[in-house]
Amino acid sequence: PAEREAAKARIAELLKARDAVLVAHYYVDGDLQDLALATGGIVADSLEMARFGRDHAAKTLVVAGVRFMGESAKILSPDKRVLMPDLDATCSLDLGCPADEFAAFCDAHPDREVVVYANTSAAVKARADWMVTSSCALAIVEHLKNQGRKILWAPDRHLGRYIQEQTGADMLMWNGACIVHDEFKGLELDLLKREHPGAMVLVHPESPASVVAQADVVGSTSQLLNAVIRGDAPAYIVATDNGILHRMRQLAPGKTLIEAPTAGNSATCKSCAHCPWMAMNALQGVLACLEHGAGEITVPEPTRAQALGCIERMLDFVQ
Ligand code: 13P
Ligand code: SF4
Repeated sequence: PAEREAAKARIAELLKARDAVLVAHYYVDGDLQDLALATGGIVADSLEMARFGRDHAAKTLVVAGVRFMGESAKILSPDKRVLMPDLDATCSLDLGCPADEFAAFCDAHPDREVVVYANTSAAVKARADWMVTSSCALAIVEHLKNQGRKILWAPDRHLGRYIQEQTGADMLMWNGACIVHDEFKGLELDLLKREHPGAMVLVHPESPASVVAQADVVGSTSQLLNAVIRGDAPAYIVATDNGILHRMRQLAPGKTLIEAPTAGNSATCKSCAHCPWMAMNALQGVLACLEHGAGEITVPEPTRAQALGCIERMLDFVQ
């Protein structure tokens, strides 16, 4: 703990000295989340991270999250230096949607508006008309449907199915999934709800249909956090990466938070839902960014410029 405190103090100092700001996702280590907030940075969902990085005046963004978040920051702010604690921190959705296969899929369906989730590479975004995140996907697809557009959707099949059900849009889907949310189990959730009859169920839409069907609130990480803060229930079953419990406990201290089950026996599975790539973000990695400029994200032209359009379209839509 003394070493961790020393590392945190050094990071705070270096952030100032290097004109840098820490932009963190809710799934990363709690100390990193606290440090981001204590030093003028942000802990946020992926939409808010993108907006914050774009709007902040700092010369360097240190993005604690996974690779697509660093890439989005760089695409939006090519003149800023974007550093990440571990460049190997990726995402199963990104890995499961290679740019060349995705391009062939788009080529085969030229009549469709291409909508991609934020959790994709810059090269995939370069082929897209729209980027969406979990907090605005529903509104954007609804808007496209009202314009009579047919959609090609990638890569998360659960989020895609949820949006398709909600909007009735014509959506052709890529078959990807998040390895963390895909593990939540509907049957076990049903049993857990019986043990906690007054609990509200909060579900990230990357989860399977059987889990989403039991939700009181479906939303992005920030939307789920707000549901805990504002909700009047005493207890909440949370079906998303358990890294978010850190911020939920801080902002809703009196409330009981229960992790949704990911395996056959929820009683034996205490911390199953945690992204291995988000877990690669550590204090030492942030120190390496700030001390020697390690972990720099680059997005080559013309991919960067081509990917910018779909992100800006989303940001203009949500304002
Ligand atoms: P949010 O945009 O809801 O934070 O989710 C993104 C995500 O899956 C990060 O892993
Ligand atoms: Fe990707 Fe899932 Fe990890 Fe988010 S939690 S970064 S969607 S693998």
